[in-house]
Amino acid sequence: MSKNLFTERYSPMYFNTGRLVTKDELETLFEAARWAASSYNEQPWHFIYAGRDQLEQFNALLSVLNEYNQGWASSASVLLVAVAAENLQQTGKPNGYALYDTGQAVAQMVLQASMMGLQGHQMGGFDKEKARKELNIPEGYQPVAAIAIGEPAPLKEIPQEFAERANEKRQRKPLSDFTHQGRF
Ligand SMILES: Cc1cc2nc3c(=O)[nH]c(=O)nc-3n(C[C@H](O)[C@H](O)[C@H](O)COP(=O)(O)O)c2cc1C
Repeated sequence: MSKNLFTERYSPMYFNTGRLVTKDELETLFEAARWAASSYNEQPWHFIYAGRDQLEQFNALLSVLNEYNQGWASSASVLLVAVAAENLQQTGKPNGYALYDTGQAVAQMVLQASMMGLQGHQMGGFDKEKARKELNIPEGYQPVAAIAIGEPAPLKEIPQEFAERANEKRQRKPLSDFTHQGRF
């Protein structure tokens, strides 16, 4: 397949630890998320973030990840936790699309990262309750996913424990497995 935005994006297993993401780059990533579509244009997403040069905050974000994820995500240039506002601003009623919309915003962010020579690796493997406490997430907001962003490390510089996964051929189901003309 030819190079394209979607196949170029991938989840790296290690990042170049010497590469810091600049304030401008970070802003471009957030801008990509900002323009995501959302139900009622609620924009329910929030991002808690820290660069690896903001050591204390970076370590707090790192500490909520599970041990396996900490192993590779410690090399990231920026760590983030995406958080969804659970209720609609207008009515206060639950927003049934809060997670969906937050996922779309993250998807746009990681595609933007890919276009900039960076990559993002999303994680569900983190302690949501710990994140609430450590990162000061208020009631009514739900931690959704953690994200590690940086410049991917060259394959030969990936620690052995992660190299095998990094070398695996990326697989996807064929279209026929998930497309249904007319009815399921
Ligand atoms: C919501 C979500 C949660 C994920 N959780 C983890 C995780 O905890 N640890 C991990 O190493 N990868 C995690 N991943 C990365 C997936 O394993 C990865 O996206 C998938 O294998 C496809 O690979 P690709 O992103 O390189 O295309 C997660 C991805 C998503 C979207």
